[in-house]
Amino acid sequence: VHFGSDNVVGASRKVLDAIVAANDGAMPSYGEDALAARVKGRLRDLFEHEVEVFMVPGGTAANGLSLACLSPPWGEIFCHEESHVMTDECGAPENFTGGAKLVGLQGVGGKIGVDALRSALEAPRRGVHSVVPAALTLTNLTECGTLYRPDEVAALAGLARRHGLKVHMDGARFANAIAGSGASPAEMTWKAGIDVLSLGATKNGALAAEAVVFFDPALAESMPMRRMRGGLLVSKGRLLSSQFEAWLDGDHWLDLARHANTMAARLRNGLAAVPGIRVPWPAEGNEVFPVLPERLERALLAQGFRFHRWRSGSLPDGGGPGAGEALVRMVCSFATREEDVDKLIAAAAAATEPSPA
Ligand SMILES: Cc1ncc(COP(=O)(O)O)c(C=O)c1O
Repeated sequence: VHFGSDNVVGASRKVLDAIVAANDGAMPSYGEDALAARVKGRLRDLFEHEVEVFMVPGGTAANGLSLACLSPPWGEIFCHEESHVMTDECGAPENFTGGAKLVGLQGVGGKIGVDALRSALEAPRRGVHSVVPAALTLTNLTECGTLYRPDEVAALAGLARRHGLKVHMDGARFANAIAGSGASPAEMTWKAGIDVLSLGATKNGALAAEAVVFFDPALAESMPMRRMRGGLLVSKGRLLSSQFEAWLDGDHWLDLARHANTMAARLRNGLAAVPGIRVPWPAEGNEVFPVLPERLERALLAQGFRFHRWRSGSLPDGGGPGAGEALVRMVCSFATREEDVDKLIAAAAAATEPSPA
């Protein structure tokens, strides 16, 4: 049973059917198709704001291209020290921006602390010798499965904007953050000070589709060329637009995310009740980060359950794994079944029961 990530499963049936349906006939290429225009209209309605939309096949591309539109090569981009852009994209943001400097900030549970951002913004600069603060990027859902609520986004984004920065949101799991917070997409983004959003669908029911959503069209000026130059303008654009149209239709995206979140909450509650397991953060989306005895970790892996060890720098003081313990990440998806969650909880409970004398 696989809790390794939410991209270990394919697409939802509805999204897959939409791709097949979009296969028929001829339509203009390079994103000039009617589906792309319809998706833009749907996103405008969803966000209650004029938007510029650029489809790309993956989240790393969405983030790198977004940040390149917000920062010059000599810019400084603030992010969480454990964020995906910082630790998991092989320097793609630096590559797309032509060398901007990513600066990792601390904060518990994957969330940048306001004080950490303030100190970074107020740090002395040395003219031409220093990089120039250009952008802040927040991940929501965070890499720790927690979420920023709109007021928390607004506090960080407001501070950054007062210092002249632009603000990006890595929304690879935006759907899970919206489902978990109950906030509207508008409240979570432009109303809270977000300029550009990487809106991910791939982890939540699409096969491969992400949209870069600009709330300020002026910032998108160079995006068409950047996307083409990066080799990321898919010629048969219907492939991406059809996925997005089906994903957005009838709140399918939210239904999928709600299911994944419900499974994660079930998993969290079940594991937290097992003696010897601690779950340091609330599961506010579709990810659970339990601290397990290493013996239990080995036993579960040996039984075929799949999940990953996780770094623990973001744990609250004293909450980190002690000797003989491991922090692991377990991710639920739109396709996770209740019975699989229950199987994992039962296996964990059975493995921690004292053996009969
Ligand atoms: C928070 C976050 N952002 C961005 C990405 C990048 O997505 P992709 O793997 O499609 O490039 C991921 C993927 O794991 C992610 O977890």
